[in-house]
Amino acid sequence: MASEPVNVSEFEALAKKALPKMYFDFYAGGAEDEYTLKDNEEAYQRITIRPRVLVDVSRIDTSTSILGYPISSPIMVAPSALHQLANPEGELATARASAASNTIMILSFSSSYNVEEVAASCDAVRFFQLYRAERSGYKAIVLTVDCPRLGRREADIRNRMIVPKLKNVEGFVSNDVDAGGGSNLEAYANSTFDPTLSWKDVAWLKSITSLPILLKGILTHEDALKAVEVGAAGVIVSNHGARQLDYSPATITVVEEVVRAVKGKIPVIVDGGVRRGTDVFKALALGAQAVLVGRPIIYGLAAKGEQGVKQVIQMLKDEFELTMALAGCTSLKDITRSHVRTDRDRFQ
Ligand code: FNR
Repeated sequence: MASEPVNVSEFEALAKKALPKMYFDFYAGGAEDEYTLKDNEEAYQRITIRPRVLVDVSRIDTSTSILGYPISSPIMVAPSALHQLANPEGELATARASAASNTIMILSFSSSYNVEEVAASCDAVRFFQLYRAERSGYKAIVLTVDCPRLGRREADIRNRMIVPKLKNVEGFVSNDVDAGGGSNLEAYANSTFDPTLSWKDVAWLKSITSLPILLKGILTHEDALKAVEVGAAGVIVSNHGARQLDYSPATITVVEEVVRAVKGKIPVIVDGGVRRGTDVFKALALGAQAVLVGRPIIYGLAAKGEQGVKQVIQMLKDEFELTMALAGCTSLKDITRSHVRTDRDRFQ
């Protein structure tokens, strides 16, 4: 028997073994040179932690809440497409694992099972990407704002990646996209993404739903300010796991800029490259309220199904709790800016 993974990154190798190359590449890949893909993780490694000692850390509380919904730790599940390519149970397994871990899953618009099917799989707090979510009991809408067009993912082009029919758009848009022998990803994107999406559409969306709206894909203080102005309930600092605009900044390097701009009026969440509990700690020290995890969840699902997703979340949570203890923090409010040192601190 292969040895058990001892950290989240080791699930990637297991997933690679378990999946056809075309699917693994689809999950793992980023846009163009994959500069940002690498930098998302490496930027965390350039931040060091300033631990405080002689603090009684016999009791650590990792719990928090997002938009008023309690979660067991500030680690949530990012929306990612097509979980059924990783495991037949797809998002049903991911949703059950997230619920068992007492955290929130954001269901992707491009999921293999539709909103209603995932809602029926278990009773838990979930967020989704469209207003149709309201009827099925989802608690927030996460509007992805970094996809006016599909980023150029060369592995998918090379592999002629074929996307199965999308369940959430059945009956709404043409779901039969012929790629003429190549990858059909771009054709799918053309039929489901909207390049005209603009700030006024966020105002419109707000007018037709009572659910809070989180904007996912904010990378600048300018847009963070606009998000507050338009009445967003929160922002997610994200570069879409480096699958859209290559050479966009590693997300952890712009969290502070966004946090300063929103001035505590709305929560800031960050995703991209979170692979360690120390990464979660660093994100919180820089002012984020929580992180989302993307690829490791899919790798857990591919390697071991529902159990694998649970294990990935648990590993990150355990590492985060240990980091808190070793840094002298017993609850999330103890984690402050002075607990980390960034490149910028060094050069000032
Ligand atoms: C994504 N992501 C994404 N985001 C989104 O808003 N809607 C979506 O449908 C998808 N689909 C998707 C598929 C796959 C295979 C990946 C890897 C990612 C982006 C995702 O929500 C998140 O921003 C990143 O995955 C975070 O980076 P890490 O944790 O994967 O490094």
